[in-house]
Amino acid sequence: MKALILAGGKGSRLRPITFSTAKQLVPVANKPVIEYGIEAIREAGISDFGIIVGDSHAEIENALGDGSRWEAKFTYIPQVAPLGLAHAVKTAKPYLQDDRFIMYLGDNLIKTGVAGLVEEFKNDAFDASILLTRVPNPEEFGVAELDGDRVVRLEEKPKQPKSDYALVGVYLFGPSVFDAIDVLQPSFRGEYEITDAIQGLIDAGKNVRSHIVTGWWKDTGTVQAMLEANRLILESMSHSIKGEIQDSEIDDTVSVGEGARVVSSCIRGPAIIGPGCVIEHAYVGPFTSIAAGVTLKNAEIEYSIVMDDCRIEDAGRITGSLIGRGVNVTRAARKPASLGLVLGDNSSVTLP
Ligand code: TTP
Repeated sequence: MKALILAGGKGSRLRPITFSTAKQLVPVANKPVIEYGIEAIREAGISDFGIIVGDSHAEIENALGDGSRWEAKFTYIPQVAPLGLAHAVKTAKPYLQDDRFIMYLGDNLIKTGVAGLVEEFKNDAFDASILLTRVPNPEEFGVAELDGDRVVRLEEKPKQPKSDYALVGVYLFGPSVFDAIDVLQPSFRGEYEITDAIQGLIDAGKNVRSHIVTGWWKDTGTVQAMLEANRLILESMSHSIKGEIQDSEIDDTVSVGEGARVVSSCIRGPAIIGPGCVIEHAYVGPFTSIAAGVTLKNAEIEYSIVMDDCRIEDAGRITGSLIGRGVNVTRAARKPASLGLVLGDNSSVTLP
């Protein structure tokens, strides 16, 4: 079997972060979110990966390389425009040929991994296998209407959902999916929807199996979801201290990277501090990931993701935040004591 990872897309819900960073490379517990998917697929024994890329192709290719880091072979497949998940699959047809494949959305995380699903799909006669999970807000997802175990109908982001079973961003397909994609028309939002392609398979009498996912699943397409994914990964990972700690209180659910210095501070886990950080007279609260080379002085932060090389000084308390690379948050040294903002398009600031 082959794997198809989707790492193109618009990423409009994660602006302004996605103006400069591919959303699949946003770090969750200091590791690009897409790497969790790659690892899950490798654990299932697949080593042949097609990776769909869009505008951010250079950054993705630069970060992931040729796959040798995972003892895998990566083939990058440019998609002309983010015209939908089914369009991405169609674009990959010359690469996938007649092989059965797992399609994995590059910004998704699934606790249970995919090894069991891949094993089952490899050896059975189903045309497709889809994963479902119960969600409180089905109108934001692809939703399945079930009759017992059987999928009767799928709808993309329905205004009036017929169930609360959302499609998880992992699908398994045989080559018959291409026939279903070939006859698709764009949906009302102008995209070729994979839900419509699967509906086409059902309508054509093909065997479409569904699985209910029991562990957590996260689509990290929004800031809130990204922070939640960060919490879930931090909770389940093991921790170690490699940096230098002075006069500080650090829980044993905290990781501190090489060359980092933590001085006169308190870090409550689960949390991770990247290599080369300086944390001084600071409080880092639970569910916080701080990437490499960040300086945090006289500041408090919790339930947040801070990307590389930021400087946060005399900043009071920060919570529920996603802070991009090289951001400075400091206090004015002189009057007027007012906010001074340099914000890119679509930035958001929440004042206390
Ligand atoms: P989505 O999150 O559904 O779409 P998006 O990335 O365009 O984001 P937004 O809705 O916020 O504008 O995409 C899921 C995954 O699939 C993500 O990793 C991007 C990828 N993708 C493609 O590779 N090609 C596409 O045409 C689309 C729509 C998504």
